[in-house]
Amino acid sequence: MRRSLKRVSVLSVALMVAAVLAACGGSSKKSSSATTTSGGGSSANLSVSSFTSDFSAMSQLKGLAGQGKGLVGVLLPDTTTSARYVSFDAPYLTKAFQTAGFTQFKVDNAQGSASTMQTQAEADITSGASVLIVDPLDSGSGAAIENNAVSKGVKVIDYDRLTKGGPADRIYVSFDNVKVGQTIGNGFVDCVKSWNVAKPNVLVMDGDPTDNNAGLFSQGYNGVLKPHFDDGSYLKVGEPAGTWTPSVAQTTFAQQYTAHPNINSVVTPNDDNANAVISYLQSKQIKPKTFPTTGQDASKSGLQNILKGFQCGTVYKPIYLEAQAAAAIALYLRAGQTPPSSLVNATTKDTQQNTDVKSVYLTPSWVNIDNMQQTVIKDGAVKVSDICVADTQAACTAAGIK
Ligand code: GAL
Repeated sequence: MRRSLKRVSVLSVALMVAAVLAACGGSSKKSSSATTTSGGGSSANLSVSSFTSDFSAMSQLKGLAGQGKGLVGVLLPDTTTSARYVSFDAPYLTKAFQTAGFTQFKVDNAQGSASTMQTQAEADITSGASVLIVDPLDSGSGAAIENNAVSKGVKVIDYDRLTKGGPADRIYVSFDNVKVGQTIGNGFVDCVKSWNVAKPNVLVMDGDPTDNNAGLFSQGYNGVLKPHFDDGSYLKVGEPAGTWTPSVAQTTFAQQYTAHPNINSVVTPNDDNANAVISYLQSKQIKPKTFPTTGQDASKSGLQNILKGFQCGTVYKPIYLEAQAAAAIALYLRAGQTPPSSLVNATTKDTQQNTDVKSVYLTPSWVNIDNMQQTVIKDGAVKVSDICVADTQAACTAAGIK
């Protein structure tokens, strides 16, 4: 036990302890709150618009959380392709479950290894998991995990990324990912105008093709950019093989920029990849507000690059929405109930199986200097002190970010 505990994250250890305490009745203090509608699990009729940054909707699920049995296991992919998994997904999923008075859950991160995720899933099932929330590294490994889980009676949620080839009755919780891509495309077009880039020579840098989302993002921004390429107002210099690994993105960009020194803008769906490109641009003394780049995830580095005039904006996906939606669906499934249609508001095509997967779609938004205060700061997604630092303080002051 002790040896296997060492392998899981500190967070997982804390959560496992909480789960054991709960199983022994040790956390009855927390779950016996006055608002509990015991036995009335289906009384809460949540919709996608119920969730807010104070997590208050989750407390309506206390009755539901008291029904059913078994652990809810969360499997996150990595810690390097985006700050989101450590900074947002893990803490917000934790908060969502805890606000529902539910302690029998465990959050693991596979650190970029599909076999680690497989091992974590098996450990969850051995510990009696009844629901798994899976954000796969790629569809193949995700489908193996999910189909094995379902064969053992475990319910499955695809979290953020669709697992192509997954079990028929899984539920997918995500943002509308084509819309994420369109938001990036529209943000880029606006930025090109406001930074007066007369003729954008664009390098399109996609995400990792093994991630189903990467294709959807690309569909979104390429759809917005196509008329500009077609009418000759923009030039698409290239669209090299995609990645979520920032160091690979930097090497790719350096090669492309050396081969095509006319590149003066980059469309990418990731703040960390943008950051790698921007570091390279800064080493070449490129000036602010001359070379539009884009991003996603409202990471601290992305927001700082926006303030410095090296990135136009970022897609902000309030992860507190996604975490609460996934935790709510998990509690419905664990209690043996069908989640309400006000929550499961969409379907997504699994193109591998040609099936429709019931889905929860949340809405992304574009954050730039003008609305940073009203969005990420207001929501508490980042602190002013995280983004208003020596290099960016003047821009923060000018934009009224405080
Ligand atoms: C996507 C995810 C993004 C970003 C990216 C790299 O699937 O939706 O938010 O994190 O992976 O990890």
